[in-house]
Amino acid sequence: MNRIPFNRPAIVGKELYYISKAIHEGHSAGDGGFTKKCHTFLEQALGVPRVLLTTSCTHALELAALLLNIEPGDEVIVPSFTFVTTVNAFVLRGAQPVFIDVRPDTLNMDERRLQDLITTHTKAIVPVHYAGVGCDMDAICHIANQHGIPVVEDNAHGLFGKYRDQWLGTFGALATLSFHETKNIICGEGGALIINDPQYIERAEIVREQGTDRKKFFRGEVDKYTWVDLGSSYLPSDILAAFLYAQLEEKDRIQARRREIWEYYYERLQDWAQDCGVQLPFVPPHCEQPYHMFYLLLPSFEHRQALITHLRTRDISSVFHYVPLHLSKMGQQLGGELNDCPVTEDISNRLLRLPFFNDLTGTDLARVVDAVIEFPL
Ligand SMILES: Cc1ncc(COP(=O)(O)O)c(C=O)c1O
Repeated sequence: MNRIPFNRPAIVGKELYYISKAIHEGHSAGDGGFTKKCHTFLEQALGVPRVLLTTSCTHALELAALLLNIEPGDEVIVPSFTFVTTVNAFVLRGAQPVFIDVRPDTLNMDERRLQDLITTHTKAIVPVHYAGVGCDMDAICHIANQHGIPVVEDNAHGLFGKYRDQWLGTFGALATLSFHETKNIICGEGGALIINDPQYIERAEIVREQGTDRKKFFRGEVDKYTWVDLGSSYLPSDILAAFLYAQLEEKDRIQARRREIWEYYYERLQDWAQDCGVQLPFVPPHCEQPYHMFYLLLPSFEHRQALITHLRTRDISSVFHYVPLHLSKMGQQLGGELNDCPVTEDISNRLLRLPFFNDLTGTDLARVVDAVIEFPL
């Protein structure tokens, strides 16, 4: 029997052709023809003023922290239930993370706790759309606007998801995307910064290119380029952009297949989950998800661990997800303590993700579900 991995990146269209084209056309460094195509594609698809590809979502978050002039002493409100770099990007600038718990239904930032965490030092609010299901952006943006605090959406999971008919990644002043090999649309390692507030565009171009005004030079707006601001090298090679563009061209096919996979899991596991006290993903009616992930919340940590082992004995990989950041070594050094985020602490112990990738076959999918249902609960 073949092993079913948790994730397997796949070629879906013209990736290899475009990659060789990028190399042969002689522009394999950043901001070549394929990068521009990706920028235009995403700007048009999302209806946003500017998208800039970056080497990762992590780097897009670091770019966002630089653009917001985050400094030592500033506070940034972030979920503890997220990937380390959602927080690290701001801590790198000296910020103090203020961890907010998640809702038990969507596992997103609990907007009901937000108001109480805001102080005069709060410089950013960073919602993460977990599994691509939108956070309560009405409430979050309302509170943020009342206090004049910028929102940075970490939309690593949620490209082409919607909240109240509006694309995720278009609510905050800034938003970030990931094209890491585990995402719906990939290029190995990659990301993007979405700039919704045009006041950040000019400086974002500079910070992304080593703090230089090279972009202005290439547009003929200055006669030489030089060091003008803080910055780093956040440009992906055009070879990666070529990979990404081929995937973007196939986005409808990718999303349709992922929807089939998600719906198969949901339909076949629904009754079992109800009978066994297992929580399946909850998608509020006003959210359209991009079918990024399928997870189970088992009744206990012991059940979760036992199910991972049970699936492993059947050659199926399943994985847990984020370990609460406020309880990590670094999180505790920054003041995190047990019970700061009780929902996060609970669900993180019980969550398990099932294999989910674009070319997961019907046979393998059935094998995963059969194996889950067989598990004695
Ligand atoms: C919520 C979230 N933010 C950021 C990242 C970092 O993405 P990247 O690997 O593109 O840097 C991840 C990684 O999976 C993530 O899950």
